[in-house]
Amino acid sequence: MPLSEKLERLIAVSAPLWAGEAEVVRTYWDSPVRTRDADLLWLRRQCFKEFNGKGLGEHKDLGIFMGPLTEIMESFPKIDRTVDRRHVLGLIETIHDEFTHYCLFADVYDSIRDDNTPPLDPHKLETWDDDDILTQMRITQNHTHGEIGVRASHFTEGGYCTLFREGARLEGRGGVDDQIADACKLIYEDEFGHMLAGVVGLDQASLSDTDFDLMSGLVVDQLRARIRMRNSEFSYPLSEERVQEIYDGKIDPEPFDYEKAEHVMAAHR
Ligand SMILES: [Fe+2]
Ligand SMILES: [Fe+2]
Repeated sequence: MPLSEKLERLIAVSAPLWAGEAEVVRTYWDSPVRTRDADLLWLRRQCFKEFNGKGLGEHKDLGIFMGPLTEIMESFPKIDRTVDRRHVLGLIETIHDEFTHYCLFADVYDSIRDDNTPPLDPHKLETWDDDDILTQMRITQNHTHGEIGVRASHFTEGGYCTLFREGARLEGRGGVDDQIADACKLIYEDEFGHMLAGVVGLDQASLSDTDFDLMSGLVVDQLRARIRMRNSEFSYPLSEERVQEIYDGKIDPEPFDYEKAEHVMAAHR
C-alpha cells in the first residue's frame, strides 16, 4: 500500500534537511577536524543521546531509559485492563533498542580510548548546547501540541537515520572506521522503524490539513535544529555559511527509500 499524499509531502520538505545532516557526518569522516579526541567526543555525546536522551514524548520527560521503564512499572497492574499489552511491548522494545545502541557506541569508545582515558561512565555524560536546544524544542512542542508534537518528534528521531547510514558507509576502511560501520549497520534498522513510528497510522488517522501543516512546521524546525546539533557533536565539519546554505535549500534532497518504508509500515498496521 503506497504512502499517503500527506506523508509524501512531509518527506519532500524533510529531505533537503536530512541531506544537510548527512553532509555533516559524511564531511566529518575525512575532515581535518577529525582526530582521535574528536572521535571520542562524538562517541561520548552519542552515548549520552542513546543512554539518557530526552524529548521523544517519553513518560514524564524522564528520558529514553527511565521514561519507558517507569511507565512499564506503573502500567503493570493495568495491563489489558486500561493499558493495551502491545503498548507495553512497544515500551520494552524501546528500552531494548536504545540500550543496545548505547552498548554498541560505548564498546567502540572503550576499544579506541588510550590508557589515560577512563572507561565510559554513562552517568558522567552530558548534553551540549545545540543538543539541549533541540531537546527543549521537542519537549515544548510535545507539551504544547500533544499528539501532533509527539508525532513530529518521532518523525525527526535520528534525522532519517543519517548518522547510521553515513557510518555504515565506512565499511571496508579498516580500524575504527570498520568498528563504527558495524555499530551503525545494526542501529540503522532499528532507527528506520523508530522514525516511522511517528507516522504510522497517519494515513488512516483523520489528521486535518491544519494539523498536518502544523506538524510539517514542527518537523522543519526540529530538522533545522538537528543540523546544528550534529555539526557541534562532530566538532563543526561544516562552516556556518554552509549551514545557512543548507537552510536556504542549496542542497540535493536525501533520496527516501519508499519501498522500505512501505514494508515497515505494512508490518506495523
Ligand atoms: Fe537510538
Ligand atoms: Fe531510536
